[in-house]
Amino acid sequence: MSEETPHRRRPRYSGKHPRRFDQKYKELSGNAETLARVLASGKTPAGSHVPIMVDEILEVLDPRPGKIAVDCTLGFGGHTRRLLARIAPGGHLIGLDADPLELPKTEAALRGEGFGADIFTAQKSNFAGLHAALAASGFSGADVILADLGVSSMQFDNPSRGFTWKATGPLDMRMNPNRGVSAAQWLLKMTPTALEEALINNADEPDAAAIASALAGKSLATTTDLADSIRIALPHRSVELVEKAIRRVFQAVRISVNEEFSALDALLRSLPSCLNAGGRVAIMTFHSGEDRRVKKAFQAWYRDGIFSSIADEVIRASSDERRANPRATSAKLRWARRAE
Ligand SMILES: C[S@@+](CC[C@H](N)C(=O)[O-])C[C@H]1O[C@@H](n2cnc3c(N)ncnc32)[C@H](O)[C@@H]1O
Repeated sequence: MSEETPHRRRPRYSGKHPRRFDQKYKELSGNAETLARVLASGKTPAGSHVPIMVDEILEVLDPRPGKIAVDCTLGFGGHTRRLLARIAPGGHLIGLDADPLELPKTEAALRGEGFGADIFTAQKSNFAGLHAALAASGFSGADVILADLGVSSMQFDNPSRGFTWKATGPLDMRMNPNRGVSAAQWLLKMTPTALEEALINNADEPDAAAIASALAGKSLATTTDLADSIRIALPHRSVELVEKAIRRVFQAVRISVNEEFSALDALLRSLPSCLNAGGRVAIMTFHSGEDRRVKKAFQAWYRDGIFSSIADEVIRASSDERRANPRATSAKLRWARRAE
């Protein structure tokens, strides 16, 4: 055990095995050796997030000393740490995140690592308001903009946030639990037709009609209630297909509850006015509904001469990275450069 990480006794729990998230994972203690062991086993340590395609992102964004950067999706700060190292000295990075629970932890961690207010600002903000977020920090534009879409591993793996079907938790799924309605409230007010449409648009769900008629207007309190209801709605599908359907339905509900597509559309619309001349943007997506939007917007701004160059092809994580971090498998990266 290293000297910097004194041993802390893990909380006691009743019964043979820990049940609660905060009791179950040794790495939540922050012990460096435990963290390294979990990473080496190809898993994401609980309470953290392994950043994806960091080298590829640094290459396409080309951050340099003195530049102004925005990380629209601060998360655990994995990409931000590497961007900060590149824009020093003289640069400034604004880290945005909609999540009021995780943002203060990441801000505190980065401050503890020596990133002061001169180089780093954290703002609890939806990236749909990128223009206002820049203005609030006294900038009219940025040289580097990054968005790594979706939820972080800290959010996904913590059952109390309601994103995962692998453990029981309240059916919430909001990145900002202080805004909007929970997944449970959303499902309760949906009609079968509207829910079917959401399942198709947000996750290309092939069994959308059957699932929508079983779930719409239903009162479901927990994540496992939702997963069980999907299983019951698909009695003739194999276990493997049902598990895939559960994954897609959770994705579709999460996208709607957080209004993820309208936030992404607003971010894409704001790029021409938020990127400085010659500035670069990189957006990492995790499913076709997101990638289609990014691709179309970049192509439109390129045709209009607002962007001088854009990615011809999506960039994918290397096979080594995918092996080490299975969550990188579906990631697609696109970039664009603002004309001078
Ligand atoms: C995939 S994680 C980012 C991980 C981060 N790149 C890292 O290396 O730790 C996505 C983060 O973006 C946040 N997020 C998603 N949509 C957002 C939005 N519209 N506005 C602001 N933050 C958002 C989530 O709360 C989450 O923390």
